[in-house]
Amino acid sequence: MKIAIDGPAGAGKSTIARLLARRLGIIYIDTGAMYRTLTLKALRQGIDLNNENELYQLILHTDIDFFYNGEEQKVLCDGEDVTEDIRKPEITAHVSRVASFPRVRKIMVERQKRMADKVSVVMDGRDIGECVLPDADYKFFLTASIEERAERRRRELIAQGYDIDLDRLKEEIKKRDEADASREVGALKILEDSIVIDTSHMSIEEVVDNMMKIIGEK
Ligand code: CDP
Ligand code: CDP
Repeated sequence: MKIAIDGPAGAGKSTIARLLARRLGIIYIDTGAMYRTLTLKALRQGIDLNNENELYQLILHTDIDFFYNGEEQKVLCDGEDVTEDIRKPEITAHVSRVASFPRVRKIMVERQKRMADKVSVVMDGRDIGECVLPDADYKFFLTASIEERAERRRRELIAQGYDIDLDRLKEEIKKRDEADASREVGALKILEDSIVIDTSHMSIEEVVDNMMKIIGEK
């Protein structure tokens, strides 16, 4: 079984994808973590984030792996655990730029297809239904109002020790959504066969139950 989950930032994709995978007893793959990992390595090496060729060379020489520690999923960059570092606001601020380059995306998509090749997966991102798993059994598009998504992010950032203004956060999320929806290749969009779920007024459990019901019905 292949399940694609796409949608804008803060829609609940990764939280829900993880729970859905657990309920179905299959693997969860967080493709955003891969773009974040490349962004982290590029920033550490002082690479120009506007230089597609340098980023392309970098991804060719970067190993990105997922590692399961019980329930916890860890992200490894060339063997180093970067799970926490890739969630920092500095990475979030630059990741859409790195993800905008077609040659970088091509390598990422090839790797993601390979990861999902012989196993059942729930994969979340922006271009999963269109580019990575075009034959997915289910293509969910999760969304929520900008107010709700910003509020969710703010709660997360506060828990991480950051204090962020809600209006600034809204602007940052809008900017990232626009960049993700307007790029040439792998843009975020609702597809003809997307199942759209607006999670603005739904709890996490309600969303998962709703998706399990849809999967059970088909
Ligand atoms: O969790 P959050 O919504 O903050 O984002 P994410 O899923 O970690 O993805 C971070 C960024 O990576 C997105 O804003 C996209 O620019 C990029 N991305 C992408 O281009 N394609 C994907 N399949 C997944 C993420
Ligand atoms: O991956 P994406 O950026 O789409 O969202 P996420 O990181 O899974 O979710 C962002 C935050 O919203 C998390 O802290 C979730 O616990 C929370 N959330 C929620 O409060 N209600 C939902 N229905 C879904 C997510």
